[in-house]
Amino acid sequence: MESKEVREKFLKYLEKKGCKITPSASLVPENDPTTLFTSAGMQQMVPYLLGEKHPLGARIANSQKCFRAKDIEEVGDLRHNTFFEMLGDWSFNDFFKKEQISWIFEFLTEEIGLDPKRLYITAFRGSPQNDIPKDAETVEIWKELFKKNGIEAKEADFSEKNGMKEGERIFYYDENKNWWSRSGNPENMPEGELGGPDSEIFWDFGEELKLHENSPWKDQPCHVNCDCGRFFEIGNNVFMQYIKEQGKIRPFSKKNVDFGGGLERIVAASQSSPDVFKTDLFLPVINHIEKISEKKYAGSESENDKCFRVIADHIRAAVFLISDGANPSNKAQGYFTRRVIRRAVVKAQKLGINENFMARSAEIAYNIYDGIYDFPKQKVEEELEKEESKFRKTLAEGLKRFNNLVSENADSGKKLLRGSESFYLYQSFGFPKELIQELAAEEDFEFDEKGFDNEFLKHQELSRTASAGMFKGGLADAGEQTTKLHTAAHLMLAALRSVLGSHVSQKGSNITAERLRFDFSHPQKVTPEELEKVEALVNEQIAEDIAVEEKEMSLEEAKNQGAVGAFENKYGEAVKVYTIGGFSKEICGGPHVKRTGELGAFKIIKEESSSSGIRRIKAVLN
Ligand code: SER
Repeated sequence: MESKEVREKFLKYLEKKGCKITPSASLVPENDPTTLFTSAGMQQMVPYLLGEKHPLGARIANSQKCFRAKDIEEVGDLRHNTFFEMLGDWSFNDFFKKEQISWIFEFLTEEIGLDPKRLYITAFRGSPQNDIPKDAETVEIWKELFKKNGIEAKEADFSEKNGMKEGERIFYYDENKNWWSRSGNPENMPEGELGGPDSEIFWDFGEELKLHENSPWKDQPCHVNCDCGRFFEIGNNVFMQYIKEQGKIRPFSKKNVDFGGGLERIVAASQSSPDVFKTDLFLPVINHIEKISEKKYAGSESENDKCFRVIADHIRAAVFLISDGANPSNKAQGYFTRRVIRRAVVKAQKLGINENFMARSAEIAYNIYDGIYDFPKQKVEEELEKEESKFRKTLAEGLKRFNNLVSENADSGKKLLRGSESFYLYQSFGFPKELIQELAAEEDFEFDEKGFDNEFLKHQELSRTASAGMFKGGLADAGEQTTKLHTAAHLMLAALRSVLGSHVSQKGSNITAERLRFDFSHPQKVTPEELEKVEALVNEQIAEDIAVEEKEMSLEEAKNQGAVGAFENKYGEAVKVYTIGGFSKEICGGPHVKRTGELGAFKIIKEESSSSGIRRIKAVLN
């Protein structure tokens, strides 16, 4: 079945069940500073799940555009996408488990025609430490439905340890697999967050699909969540009936349903294609790339085929991101648009596409969604063209730099590309690791992979923290108090380095209007005397009412000036540096106060271990 039919059938089917259809929200959420992208259907529904009245009533269905930035590096296999559509249905304290599960079963088996024998189910095992019971009710509903279809569905627990036995079809898993909230398992949920047990639906592509050869799971027992390649999650029923309050998970006053099913994956299941890139949602792009590269896509594990998949995914993502206002840039959402475009260009070069191709490929993406979504075509194509031209120039410069490195090192008698050197190419010119590896091999140079990976991990830790919140530096919002605490964090880092030593570097931060939380490298507990000194130093800078200066410069210049901070993927472009007198100099996206005098009294309220070699401080301003 083609994607248009699946989408339409889903919405029509739920309309018959009394659901009202809403359009997709933008990929760039409005009025939600906690997240960069719409990455699940739930985001636009939060107020209604919490109890506000939805103008269309208590039953809603939609197809929501989603972008999952954290999956960028995963793209390249047969099933991961950054941009996808989530078919959703919603009950705001209206229908619950019984209706939801029966409807979705009927939709998949009767409307789409999926064979029930190839559907497998998971449910929540329960969590004694959080006082949440096992979801046996859900399992009973599924069993009954299978039974009506002549299938005896046995339930099993701990298939992740024991593997699956003949006849077993419904499996319990813990809160890391079968609990859904925007922030993951119950432990990770912040105050006031909704969540609940979920029940996922998997499609079985058949035992022959187990990727025995390459799979890291090849020696382990197969189970639906083992990622060996045989099973494929196509939908998730979340029973949103709990809330985090005073640090505990408590039953919420409303019993909501959040169902989400990946359109790309349901289409793939309906076409019995374990390769989503061979469905109508991607194939036109793949065919187009075949034409311009004069190469064939075989759907294999080969490097070329991976390039095809990355390009196809990233073109679609870039078209949708730009359409929703995320123009390529080095900030916030635009940074990710830039990343997908650049990654697509590098992969295209590998396929021998040496001229700009993104803008002229956009047309193919629009056609896939003809009549479903509108695109500001001129803007999309202009942005793609601009970014691709710019990056192709950077690529050439990066190559020059690489050649210089090679001749410098060869002159000094070494044929080694150090981790710091190759990481510089990665970070400043956007060269992916594989490309650097390949280039080094061509020159008969050794590539210090460990060194590169070390640099990469350091950087990843920093950028993960930076993208965890809407604003760089882990800020929850750009409100006045949060901004003050952000400036205080800069002063504190400088003070820590002055008191403890220059080995201290930032490992993460999370700043809300109430407090700052700051992780940094230090091998032992910070003593009360040291903490007192840090506090006093920060308060001294506040008392001096120093101006906070902001300046743009190249990354290189910032490093030369001794700035500290997250040296993120800036691809050789300008970075912002904040300087506070002679005391602090940091690369940072802001925002900050104008003068330190605005901050008030700085107080450290807690110092604790965060992980091995990393300490955590919580501090406030009074
Ligand atoms: N919120 C759930 C998910 O994203 C179901 O929509 O998987």
